[in-house]
Amino acid sequence: MDTKKLRIDGARLRASLEEMAKIGATPAGGVQRLALSDEDTRARDLFVTWLKELGLSVTIDEMGSIFGRRRGRNDSLPPVMSGSHIDSQPRGGRFDGILGVMGALEALRTLRDNGVETERPLVIVDWTNEEGSRFAPAMVASGVWAGALERDWVYARTDKDGKTQGEELARIGYRGPAPAKKWPTHAYFELHIEQGPLLERQKVTIGAPKGILCLHWYDVYLSGEANQVGPTPMEGRHDALCAAAEMILAVNRLPERMKGNLVATVGEIQNAPNSRNIIPDRVHFTVDIRSWDDAHARDAWELLKKDFTGIADERGTPFRIEETWRCPHAPFDVTLVRRVLDTAEALGYSRLHMVSGAGHDASYMNQVCPTAMIFVPSIGGRSHVEVENTSWEDCEAGANVLLHCLLETANEETR
Ligand code: GLV
Ligand code: MN
Ligand code: MN
Repeated sequence: MDTKKLRIDGARLRASLEEMAKIGATPAGGVQRLALSDEDTRARDLFVTWLKELGLSVTIDEMGSIFGRRRGRNDSLPPVMSGSHIDSQPRGGRFDGILGVMGALEALRTLRDNGVETERPLVIVDWTNEEGSRFAPAMVASGVWAGALERDWVYARTDKDGKTQGEELARIGYRGPAPAKKWPTHAYFELHIEQGPLLERQKVTIGAPKGILCLHWYDVYLSGEANQVGPTPMEGRHDALCAAAEMILAVNRLPERMKGNLVATVGEIQNAPNSRNIIPDRVHFTVDIRSWDDAHARDAWELLKKDFTGIADERGTPFRIEETWRCPHAPFDVTLVRRVLDTAEALGYSRLHMVSGAGHDASYMNQVCPTAMIFVPSIGGRSHVEVENTSWEDCEAGANVLLHCLLETANEETR
């Protein structure tokens, strides 16, 4: 058959996404499938069922990542991989991650229905804990697989209840037997929602990021002196929460002081004892700094640390810092990015060359093999929230671009 005419089944893609959205559904229309939770497990189980129905051979690795492999005509050639993640943010959206997994599944279902073989094998993947919300940092499974993160360090990371990631993997039955270790891979494509406003603002259907910003994560722990709020005079207090408040505003002002090319955010805070009538004596908060320029992001952090020291000295609230994670910026493979743009054009979709501010497993895959991503618009530019939405037409368009990128790349001998 003329494979150029192949199109995915948009209704079936929608049905898969809707079925997945029921698992961990939240009242306001989002999903909550925190990494290695019972909801994540139920969605994984369903995904594995679908992979098996499609006749793929399924492998679970020791990081819990799920791989479904379809044979190639020349099965010893390195495969082309595609996927994303099933886990979500707390009260997150119905498209982040899962679109890339269901999009790859739909592409392979389309090949099966039409009896289309490829030279190279094709592998669909669900990477464990992309979000890094329950267990920091993010993208740990692709990070270990790529050789950028240490498996045992990742296993030992804890959630707020002190449960380790390794124990939770075992508890849900997804600490698999296969080593989490990269194998020769020809290329990796990841379909994802944009999670920002650009495509919608410019009325464009397909985005092709030239790469992903660096993600630098830090944890700050402050100590103060707890006391009764009524009798304790304002002078001489060591209020850890007030110190944190000043530090958080310093984070917010950082991009401007660094003259741009940077975003900086505090998204998480724990305050203890967290009682309205006790002066707080222990505060933990997170810092997320992103830029296209890793050195610029590191310089920003050095500046910030000086601010923190000044604030802590002033308030008598000593602090400790953990430099938790640095994922360097990932410039994608120029030929594959061009392929995404050309494929979109050939299918009649408008397209935009852009940058990804959100982190993705494609960042670590870019260290293993030529990598590119396909973005579709986020309505209102909203993501990591329950109202996160993307039109079904755009989901279908993105999956069609993925299908043809996979076909072309899985049939090429070399690049
Ligand atoms: C991942 O979702 C990130 O961009 O933080
Ligand atoms: Mn994602
Ligand atoms: Mn996300």
